[in-house]
Amino acid sequence: MESTISLDELLVCRLDTRQKKTTPSSLVIFGASGDLTTRKLIPALYNLHLEKLLPEPFLIVGVARRDKTSETWRNELKEAVAKYSRTGAPDENEWNKFAEKVVYLKGDLKDYSTYFDLKQLLKSQPDPKLVENVLFYLATAPGQFSEIVEQLSRCGLLKKENTNGMWQRVVVEKPFGYSLESAQVLNREFAKYLHETQLYRIDHYLGKETVQNILMFRFSNSIFETLWNRQNIDHIQITTSEKVGVGSRGGYYEDAGALRDMVQNHILQLLALVGMEPPVSLESESIRDEKVKLLKSIRRFDEDMTPAYAVRGQYTEGEIDGLPVKGYRQEEKVKPDSNVETYVALKLYVDNWRWSGVPFFFRTGKRLPLSASEIRIQFKRTPNVLFAAQCGPRLDANSLTLRLQPEEGITLRINGKVPGTNVVVRPVRMHFSYNAEFGAYTPEAYERLLIDALAGDPTLFIRSDEVETAWSIVDPIRKHWQDKPLSAEEFYKAGTWGPAIADSLLATSGHAWRNPSPPANNK
Ligand code: BG6
Repeated sequence: MESTISLDELLVCRLDTRQKKTTPSSLVIFGASGDLTTRKLIPALYNLHLEKLLPEPFLIVGVARRDKTSETWRNELKEAVAKYSRTGAPDENEWNKFAEKVVYLKGDLKDYSTYFDLKQLLKSQPDPKLVENVLFYLATAPGQFSEIVEQLSRCGLLKKENTNGMWQRVVVEKPFGYSLESAQVLNREFAKYLHETQLYRIDHYLGKETVQNILMFRFSNSIFETLWNRQNIDHIQITTSEKVGVGSRGGYYEDAGALRDMVQNHILQLLALVGMEPPVSLESESIRDEKVKLLKSIRRFDEDMTPAYAVRGQYTEGEIDGLPVKGYRQEEKVKPDSNVETYVALKLYVDNWRWSGVPFFFRTGKRLPLSASEIRIQFKRTPNVLFAAQCGPRLDANSLTLRLQPEEGITLRINGKVPGTNVVVRPVRMHFSYNAEFGAYTPEAYERLLIDALAGDPTLFIRSDEVETAWSIVDPIRKHWQDKPLSAEEFYKAGTWGPAIADSLLATSGHAWRNPSPPANNK
């Protein structure tokens, strides 16, 4: 009989079956009535349940101050799953099976009795592993982190030394600290109660499929990696633009601003993945070592050089999709004279052998004309002979765009001859679309991150030296901006691509931003 298996299928290579092995365990979510739990964590857990990836047996305990029963909480979560899960309204049967694993515990995080009750609850489970193997998820305000781990340790739920294969891990949400100094203090606090290997600092960007694909793309293809250096690349642009404003998060955003909210974490992570050297192996520490090395090679800003390398902006009222929207200063819980930045553009240099002299341009902002994240590798121009000699700047340089969201894909932009008797050259594209190739299945970032934390794989989480190095890069910029009121040229109208001075940041070296294309129009 003839085989129906295609060559592509024969070449599918699974790398992580071993890593994803979970053991009977519990997940305790502190801050269970918050937005993150309902919008992200529970829908992700429900989808993992559908995929049969959750440990068996498994218990999810939500801890929060509000008075409610497990039954009420489950009903709230069912609605949340219907609203926020990529799989839509839950199937009754599957939901009931999932809901059996979900319990609510009312408690104040400051009271020892809350942790005592939690211990009793976990101990009352038929399988003793559910009190031995526990993932604690701190979805609370950062100010509560130290208190929670201290209390968990005091009541014996969190142990620094573990034997007999038991494990306890702690997941913390960003922001991890507020500055280098505060991150160091937090790292020291955690270190009193747990080892670095037990601490999982989340950056949800690392859970995105397309972000994980950066390493695979670079190191499983020979054709691109040979071009990935200063000899061939003119510059790199990273854009993460959002149409949304700060919405109801004004209170948080007033303390964060775009630099802390997006640059210190997501953007520097993208840079690290795009720029790092090949790790010696796929082990988590090898990958994290290379990321840290890259971050350490970033040229530091000092007070004087900041204006030439960093631009901030704040949106004023304008229009998004033809509808009027408020300015940042008019948003809820925002000071009417706030100087907080909602836009940042940076020019960075990585002073190492591979990247010496290649500028990396980044920008991120709220209330920009479209929501998209992409990394654009802009290659050098051809020598100024033949076509280039005749076309000048109209002969575009090649580029490779990794589109992270939406319409995930990779596009190579090359030049081609327009068919006809005349000699006309214009850019054409070779495009790989995730959806076209693999169907619309894209797991949410939190699905991957939760299963990795349960299985004890820290690769996609941030190590202490990584988080501290990232703060050391953005702190000088923050110092330069803080206490300086925004000037007129730093404001931008909502619905535009940021302040005009961000264009000058590139123009001085003869470059220009390339805006992401709107959906359904790949470059
Ligand atoms: C979060 C920021 O970390 O990332 C938000 O706090 C931002 O301000 C969000 O909107 C962007 O993430 P995503 O997955 O929507 O690109």
